[in-house]
Amino acid sequence: MGIQRIESVIYSVDDLATCVRFFTDLGLTLIEQEDERAVFETLIGQTLQLRAGGATEGLPASVEASNNTIREVVWGADSEAELEGFVAALGADREVTRDAGGVWHTVDETGFGVGLTVAGPAKIDSVERRVANVTGHVNRWNQALSSVGAVRPLRMCHVALNIPKAGRDEAVAFYVDRLGFIPTDIVQPMGVFMRVPGDADQHNFLLCHRPDRASVNHVSFEVPGFDDVIEGGNQMIEKGWQEARRLGRHTVGSNVFRFVHSPSGGRVELAADMDRVDDTYGPNVHETAPPHHIWTLRTSRDD
Ligand SMILES: [Fe+2]
Repeated sequence: MGIQRIESVIYSVDDLATCVRFFTDLGLTLIEQEDERAVFETLIGQTLQLRAGGATEGLPASVEASNNTIREVVWGADSEAELEGFVAALGADREVTRDAGGVWHTVDETGFGVGLTVAGPAKIDSVERRVANVTGHVNRWNQALSSVGAVRPLRMCHVALNIPKAGRDEAVAFYVDRLGFIPTDIVQPMGVFMRVPGDADQHNFLLCHRPDRASVNHVSFEVPGFDDVIEGGNQMIEKGWQEARRLGRHTVGSNVFRFVHSPSGGRVELAADMDRVDDTYGPNVHETAPPHHIWTLRTSRDD
């Protein structure tokens, strides 16, 4: 019941060709390309859409000075009947429109576009994953490891947006009260982590408070494991993209991460091994912010 997953993330961009190269290098599948737009797909069938020039018409205005930003996040709900309930709640105080493809559109309290549709079928349910060996728990016999090869994200697992600190309670309430998002960790000085009812990830969405500005923070892509996070980051660096912070493991959500600056705005995260939670979890209220990470990679070598 309720919202199941991120269905689409729609960016406006200045340099479509560079952004197409970036998301191709990240391992997404390019499924449509025209002069001013491109559509990529994750392995489970979500779409990441890039729009330039005239193809940005009809999208909500950019919330930041840059045109390279997220203009809309489309969420996939369980059924048409549920969509009607969401649309009624959204329509109480703002315009909600439906496009020819049946997707509903409105804007949130900050001005980010919010889309709603029926969730598409998951194209895959699982992938091969590496099993680890440790004394007392030997799971891999007579099998040497090699590179994981070209890393391909399974799915967009969360979106993080920066919102102005003023009005943050209303911004969060929009998603919780009208769309059924579930707060998991409320970090009072920093932001609110939320998940959607159809997903067990510790968070699918983060509204991160900033002193005075709204902007895209990052989109996170789940990969199967630790090796994929490291090798996927290495592959992006080898292709000329810039890492945004060191490899590490987050405190909230526990996922291993690497971040890369995106020409479409903000950063992308390669993530693995995030906490899974159910309805008995949280919300945990933190009066002071927990550390950003449990660890990050430290080295005394540069070679
Ligand atoms: Fe993240």
